[in-house]
Amino acid sequence: MNLRILFAGTELFPFVKAGGLGDVMAALPKALRALGVDVRLLLPAHPALKQAAAPLETVLTLGDLMGGGEARVLLGRCPAGLPLYLLDQPAFFHTDAPYAPGGDMPLRFGSLAWTAAHLGRHGDGQGWKPAIVHVHDWHTALAPAYLALGGEPRPRTVLTIHNLAYQGLFPPDLLAPLGLPAACFQPDGVEFYGKLGFLKAGLVYADRITTVSPTYAREILGPAGEGLEGLLRLRNGRLRGILNGVDGDIWNPATDPLLPRPFSLEDLPARLPAKLALQRELGLREAPDTPLFSVVSRFAPQKGLDLILENLPWFQAQGVQLAVLGQGDPDLEARFLAAARLHPERVAVRIGFDEGLSHRLYGGADALLVPSRREPCGLTQLYALRYGALPVVRATGGLADTVVDATPEATREGRATGFVFGEASPGALKEALDRALSLYRNRHDTWVDLQRRAMAQDFGWTQPARQYLELYEALLASVD
Ligand code: ADP
Ligand code: GLC
Repeated sequence: MNLRILFAGTELFPFVKAGGLGDVMAALPKALRALGVDVRLLLPAHPALKQAAAPLETVLTLGDLMGGGEARVLLGRCPAGLPLYLLDQPAFFHTDAPYAPGGDMPLRFGSLAWTAAHLGRHGDGQGWKPAIVHVHDWHTALAPAYLALGGEPRPRTVLTIHNLAYQGLFPPDLLAPLGLPAACFQPDGVEFYGKLGFLKAGLVYADRITTVSPTYAREILGPAGEGLEGLLRLRNGRLRGILNGVDGDIWNPATDPLLPRPFSLEDLPARLPAKLALQRELGLREAPDTPLFSVVSRFAPQKGLDLILENLPWFQAQGVQLAVLGQGDPDLEARFLAAARLHPERVAVRIGFDEGLSHRLYGGADALLVPSRREPCGLTQLYALRYGALPVVRATGGLADTVVDATPEATREGRATGFVFGEASPGALKEALDRALSLYRNRHDTWVDLQRRAMAQDFGWTQPARQYLELYEALLASVD
């Protein structure tokens, strides 16, 4: 184990998770370690992480960081065995919510990014120092700036964009409290339309940039770039899309303890009890032949859930059950709840975060709808494929890279794994829903063929981990 990498980020499944970032932060380091890379993680010392990583040893005391009081770096281990550094600053990180709202947000994450840079430059005081600091999303994206502005010698840096929609934009008067020099507040530094941009800083100063699918890596050079497309085009030679994977230790219907009963590709009829149990759990009519379509999603504008709401009459008219699990935007929550109240026999809605129910939805529903306007990678469609719920997705980002539309040709050639539509409109979604329903009702053998193919897809982490390793090695060998 000689290549040393420090991963810094805000989520870690199953302890601190808001979305796919938590899954990636848990699975990718594990896959890299299996390739012989010495990966360690840095996260805030949320209570759940302190408990999970115990016993803990204090390895660094950093004094008052960014007004959050005495900061210490603790070292423990994730259950998967990887060493885990925790930034202990109770004034900043006293709950398990990764993004607790509050005016201290920029300083809180500034402190985390600064600590990542410090660990990168000086090591942990116990003899461990990384060759590369790999940061994830805006919260830690200042680390490459601290390192580049601090001069050589320094570790190399990689920034992974999981979502360009969240950029961490704050008033410029935070520059000094964050310990950034006034001179970097300019368009080719951390300035973004008069604001201080955390993600922008990372895109400017990181040695390499990755994002989570090849299609998203292309899309963000254009309108999906959220105002950063010019900079991304400039840095395109340093940008690469690497598709996320699925952690087979967690996401395997044959061994999943959260399912009522295991099933597998070889024993597909065993999937039916999961559907009936799900219908029962959700208060829907238990009916093997009634199609059950589902949603597992953050309720955010990028997810395109309004397109599903526009199609509620379709579910009613066609006799299709709809099961929705998610939380977020209050207006979307209210609209879905209203739909469930209006059509309790047809629509079931659970607002909240429920890991167990998410597994039962992938394992019990016939289809999973992901009509995202933008989707950097998307993991729910990958889990759905693995669990035999056919994905109905919009052709964007990682959705376009992972689901093969059931066109007559792809179906004939045995390549189809789901249903893909192009335009972000209710009509385009309806057309895909019609195609899915028609296959389900009229050509059920073909539906089952698609299910088998979906479940047989290999979206494991080994291949992506190899691509990251290749990128690290090329970066360390390069002269720039
Ligand atoms: P994003 O990161 O944009 O939210 P992804 O598809 O990459 O989208 O990842 C979403 C992850 O969060 C998946 O693991 C999914 O199962 C999970 N998830 C989303 N919403 C919920 C919820 N309400 N309850 C349980 N798990 C959820
Ligand atoms: C982000 C994206 C999602 C991606 C996840 C993990 O939250 O919205 O598409 O799968 O990060 O990379």
